[in-house]
Amino acid sequence: MLWQLDNVNPRRANEKRNFAFILDWCFMVNLQQNYKKLWPLLGVQCFKQRWIVYRLNYKILYFIKVSNCITRVSWLKLLNFYVFLYSSSSSRSKLLFLWLKEQYVIMIKEFKPTPYKLESVKSGNQFDDAGWTLDAPNEHECSLVRAIYEKKQIEVKDASYGVFRFADWLPVHKMLEGSSAPVTYKSEGLAKYLGLSDLHITFSGYWPERGANFRTCSFKETEAYSVGGRLKTDDGTVLVVASAGNTARAFARVCSDNNIPLLLCVPEDNIDALWFDEPIKDNVKLIVTKSGSDYFDAIHLSNLACQLDGFIAEGGAKNVARRDGMGTTTLSAVTTIGRIPKYYFQAVGSGTGAIAAWEANKRLIEDGRFGSNFMKLMVSQNTPFLPIHDAWKAQSRKMLPLDDDVARKQVEEIDAKVLSNRKPPYAIFGGLYDAMKEAGGDVLSASNNAAEEAARIFEETEGNDIHPAAAVATATLIQAVKDGVVDKDDCIMLNITGGGEERFKREKEITFLKPSHVFDITPLVEDVEEVLKQLF
Ligand SMILES: Cc1ncc(COP(=O)(O)O)c(C=O)c1O
Repeated sequence: MLWQLDNVNPRRANEKRNFAFILDWCFMVNLQQNYKKLWPLLGVQCFKQRWIVYRLNYKILYFIKVSNCITRVSWLKLLNFYVFLYSSSSSRSKLLFLWLKEQYVIMIKEFKPTPYKLESVKSGNQFDDAGWTLDAPNEHECSLVRAIYEKKQIEVKDASYGVFRFADWLPVHKMLEGSSAPVTYKSEGLAKYLGLSDLHITFSGYWPERGANFRTCSFKETEAYSVGGRLKTDDGTVLVVASAGNTARAFARVCSDNNIPLLLCVPEDNIDALWFDEPIKDNVKLIVTKSGSDYFDAIHLSNLACQLDGFIAEGGAKNVARRDGMGTTTLSAVTTIGRIPKYYFQAVGSGTGAIAAWEANKRLIEDGRFGSNFMKLMVSQNTPFLPIHDAWKAQSRKMLPLDDDVARKQVEEIDAKVLSNRKPPYAIFGGLYDAMKEAGGDVLSASNNAAEEAARIFEETEGNDIHPAAAVATATLIQAVKDGVVDKDDCIMLNITGGGEERFKREKEITFLKPSHVFDITPLVEDVEEVLKQLF
């Protein structure tokens, strides 16, 4: 069991969080200068002026060696803010801990991973997670696998755990530093504007007054933390992620802060999405496909990288950690509201967020305390790029044929570029088609103008800027109210998947991550290997 003792200095409570996995007993304790006289009594060793490390059996040396996150970059920084305690077998240490607890305002963070199995949606077969299982073993039909958690009733931890407050239903074996959970509140401004009595907004982004501190300003951070918490990188494995926007930024931030080796593959024309409030560390490398290429060229590059030893694909929608990370938006909504809403509004590119909402909904029904209904999935796309919309309206499980050049042109036109996925997990078993068939709902659409107007209304009525994708969802809610699709007293969850970005950029000094290498649109695997050898 790992305990984290929170920052002992309340003024610094919001500063960086660090976790370490300690293989044996050790304390790191921030004792103020005036307790210096106690150091010899406690058998401590001074590492930095204000910091001491208490050790038993000299295991602290071992600790420093084994814990990547500490040896690599930031162990002194980590000592600055945190106090750790691991295990609790020695009564001597327990006594010391209790004494320290009395001296300081110390919060204990307890983290116990939830045991889980994986299940093939198609066959229902259950099996163990071999660590990074993305597909059901020995099955030939394409199906998502999902996590079946042993714990059926979720216990939500306090907000200081960040997204790991929902760790009961996350497939993670550790917690990472720096996360924030999605925040849900009952709308007044927008609800009044629309004449709705039971509208709830789930916000993932930057809105410190509401308790949302997503440093990359979108719900993609929830997936990045969850994926990072599932990953074991002690052997130096490099995670590979291809993305054109928010996902890349989220993974870069989370992996940088937690010393997870990461290779990001992004089209060169999209690198302005890689803005940060603090520089990204060296364990994260960015390679790009040259100007004129698109997301699919970046995916191709990432596939080449994954053919090499030591590089693993993050897995996208197939990764249970990714989906259950995004599912925390629904967990936030339902545990705050106290029941499962009737409608769920979200803009979709891949539809993974909506699949995640459906899966979280299933667990919440099984939990038994929040109702037994499925939220109707009111998902939306940005006109004119409407591949999911078109397939759904044609009642087709398969995506309809879409000419590449036509698709590229449509994508150029839409403002919500993150919704531009051409190959969403729609037809796959357990994918978006199945989710919408079981839960009910519809695929809606909004033009750039309607989304822009919706963003303006949101900012005026709620008081924060929102991402163009979240504006698409808001626009479709506004339209659904106008059309009488939803009733004024219906319980509605509006998933604001990104926001506060304009404000964040105004308030912070922004830096950009620079590419380590620019590749041709279709490089050879040998060229990729050569470059990656130099980078990692
Ligand atoms: C802010 C925002 N909203 C919505 C989406 C769509 O999410 P999904 O691809 O899971 O459907 C994205 C995807 O990147 C996003 O960044």
